[in-house]
Amino acid sequence: METIAIIGGHGKVALELAPILTARGDSVTSLIRTAEQAIDVAATGASPLLLDIEQASVDELAVVLGDADAVVFSAGAGGGNPQRTHAVDRDAAIRAIQAAQSAGVRRFVMVSYLGAGPDHGVPEDHSFYAYAEAKAAADTALRASTLDWTILMPGSLTEDAATGAIDPTATATTGNPGTSRANVAQVAAAVLADRSTIGKDIPFTDGEIPIPDAVAR
Ligand SMILES: NC(=O)c1ccc[n+]([C@@H]2O[C@H](COP(=O)([O-])OP(=O)(O)OC[C@H]3O[C@@H](n4cnc5c(N)ncnc54)[C@H](OP(=O)(O)O)[C@@H]3O)[C@@H](O)[C@H]2O)c1
Repeated sequence: METIAIIGGHGKVALELAPILTARGDSVTSLIRTAEQAIDVAATGASPLLLDIEQASVDELAVVLGDADAVVFSAGAGGGNPQRTHAVDRDAAIRAIQAAQSAGVRRFVMVSYLGAGPDHGVPEDHSFYAYAEAKAAADTALRASTLDWTILMPGSLTEDAATGAIDPTATATTGNPGTSRANVAQVAAAVLADRSTIGKDIPFTDGEIPIPDAVAR
């Protein structure tokens, strides 16, 4: 049993992940942005904790993450507004990384995206540019940290039901069949239970390989 903090706890991936973790006996705290979100989080078996990560300092984040064995960062501004994208997907993510380090939380799983990186190739005048830059910066900070990190890189997210199987050879340029958020949650849960994934990027879309096998590769 582990104690896990999910940042972006009312997000669609997070609401799929929390019940998987609580069902296997983990203790989950899900950070949420508004009090109204608490009821949905409580239904997953997780404990809701109200914190606006755009406003929270490293020290404030360290206090709420301090008891955790692992952090999953699945928050996001949802695109559209570059300032909010920078504030959440880049700056809050980096503060969460710094907070985990200062609080002594070893394990950190980042939900990034397929094709993320400094060489993302998104043109500056594209609406996706701020997000691509923000995720590249956050992922780079995580890799440079002293944490036991894993970076999940799912393709375009869908609301399809979980299939429990993915394609871990997927790349951003080889077509994209979609990636079920419920599968992303299963991958996050599998990664948290598999220390061989530390220090690794895990690109994937929906596919044919059972998630525990794909993650262990
Ligand atoms: N969309 C895609 O196709 C795609 C593809 C690959 C990867 N991803 C990544 O996957 C992640 C998870 O996806 P998802 O569908 O679960 O996203 P989601 O449903 O939009 O969840 C993101 C969560 O972050 C929370 N959040 C935003 N700003 C916050 C703040 N200031 N303080 C606290 N919480 C805040 C949101 O809260 P509110 O509900 O209150 O706004 C929301 O609950 C995304 O963030 C994205 O980086 C997305």
